[in-house]
This record gives sequence, C-alpha cells and structure tokens, in this order.
Amino acid sequence: MSHGPSPAPDAAPGSEPARPVVCTTRPLPGGPFAGPFARLAQEVDLRPGLEALAEAEGLVCFPGDPVDAALMARAPRLRAIATVSVGYDHIELPAAAARGIVVTHTPGVLTAATAELTFALMLAAARHLLAGDRLVREGGFRGFDPELLLGLELEGACLGVVGAGRIGSAVAERALAFGMRVLYHSRRPRPALEARGCARAPSLAALLEQADVVSLHVPLTAETYHLIGARELALMRPHAILVNTARGPVVDEAALVEALARGRPAAAALDVYEREPALSPGLAALPNAVLLPHLGSATARTRRRMAELAVAGLLDALAGRPPDHAVPLPDAPSAHPSS
Ligand code: DGY
Repeated sequence: MSHGPSPAPDAAPGSEPARPVVCTTRPLPGGPFAGPFARLAQEVDLRPGLEALAEAEGLVCFPGDPVDAALMARAPRLRAIATVSVGYDHIELPAAAARGIVVTHTPGVLTAATAELTFALMLAAARHLLAGDRLVREGGFRGFDPELLLGLELEGACLGVVGAGRIGSAVAERALAFGMRVLYHSRRPRPALEARGCARAPSLAALLEQADVVSLHVPLTAETYHLIGARELALMRPHAILVNTARGPVVDEAALVEALARGRPAAAALDVYEREPALSPGLAALPNAVLLPHLGSATARTRRRMAELAVAGLLDALAGRPPDHAVPLPDAPSAHPSS
C-alpha cells in the first residue's frame, strides 16, 4: 500500500497519476535539509520557489516568509502548508482555515537548541563576552585586571521565564543546573516545573520586578504583541538583562532602544527583531545589546530534524492522513500549543 500523497484529482484515466506539485517560499537550502527534501522530491513534484504556485497542492515555508491570504489566493489548489519552524505567526491562519488548508509545524525538535542559545545569549550579556572579545582583538588587553568587565553571576540570580511551554521549561531546567532561582509566568500552572523548585509569579509585573534575567518564550499572537513595552521595561531591575529568543514583536523594540540607552534594563540579548531583518534605529549602536541573526534552532542536527518533521507533515496532509503536528486553526476548539 502506498503511503505517498494522494494523486492530483485530475489525473487522466489509465495514466500514471500525477504527483502533487509542491512549491517552497525560497530556494531549497542544502546541508542538513538535503536528505529530507530529497525524500520529499521522491514523493511529489517538487518545484522550489513560487513560480508554480498556481498548480501547487503543497507549500513548504520558513519563518519570516509571509504566507498570507494574497499568496494563498494565487494557489487555488493548495491543500497543505508545512512550515519548517515551530512558530507559525508568518502564516495567515484564518485564510488557511477558510480554505480548509492543513497547516503543520515542527514543535519539540528545536527545544534543546533554542534553550542552549538562550543560555549563550544570557551568558554573553551577563559576562560581557562581546566586549571582552573586542578588547582582545583590538589590542586593549593589558593582562589580568581585577576590575575588568565585572559581570552578573548566574548562580543565585533569579531567572524570570515568560512563557513556560517546551522551550521556556527547557530554559528553566537549565537555569536550575546553573543554581539560579526560577520564576515563571504562564497562563496555567506548570506542576512539573514547580516540583523542581520553580515558582509561578503572581503576575508578569511581579516577575519583571524580581528577576535578574528575563527570558521570553511566548509565541507571537495578538495577546503577546508588545507584551514587553516601556511600562514593563521600567519595572525591570536596573541591573537586569532581557533575553528574547521568541519573536521580535513580543517586545516594543523602539521602547527597548530608549530603555537600553538610559541603562535600564542594563542589557538585552536578542536573537529576533520586531521588523526582522531590519533593526530599530539606534539598536545596533548600543554597547549593552547582544545581537544575533535568528540562530535559535541553528544546529545541523536540529535543522535536519525540523526538515524531516516538515516533510512528514506535508506528506501526511497531502495523503489525507492527520499530521502529527497540525497547527490548530482559528475556528478549531483546541488551544494554541506552547512553543
Ligand atoms: C522557529 O522554529 O519558530 C524558530 O524561530 C526558527 O527556528
């Protein structure tokens, strides 16, 4: 029995059934993606790019590539969209729901990679890694200096985790191993975290007031857009660090630039931006900002697993099987999954 996608409905009687056309929002990346996409190409008529969109029944997309109603309108036969990401804020879900288009994503496989990068950012900001690196390269290192680049020690510091889904919980667990105290803010209690000694903050404001490091792990939704604005930044402790590996628009970036310029919070470490890849004016010039180019899931192992999951999801959806990781569409009863 074939496990491949169901053939295009207009295959001529008696002829080899046409394989469904699948487009992609960008040229296919190689490296860890090559194997999974080669498997996809065996099952479907893979046409990288959007030129064949009018014929496409499937679409593979990536974060930052908008898949909106206008794009879907150019694809009258579209039945399935697979994003190679856990986040799906770049896809206009109501438009997909209205057309009955199945949307799949890749949760779980990038949890460790993203949690690790969160710690890389946290340590970079807390221990002035970039300033130290610059100093050495520029010839400013004059030997051990007892007062040079004194930073924040994570052991004993309080980490505030905003959004305690998969990635937030993985960050909390790693923080415990560093000897940090962990507060979390989440819509619902997380007994597994509390059993390990993490405490649920009574409110976001309470978390911001207490944490030495605030790390964001909420998906981007209408509710989380600008969750951290001028008012919230002003609540943070003067020496605190804001880390964002979630989505840029969760933070009001202009307000963050102003706050960092005043030195409160003391620093920010960002992997994502409000209008990615553009930066808000002034951000790149701030010495107390660590800036990375959306690397959260960027390990070869994780990117391969993301591609495998996306391919499996797309093939399931095209074959009419329920995919393991379907995104709940707006009119579906289930809640938004945690990232
Ligand atoms: C995601 O998967 O949503 C990340 O932002 C990119 O890996």
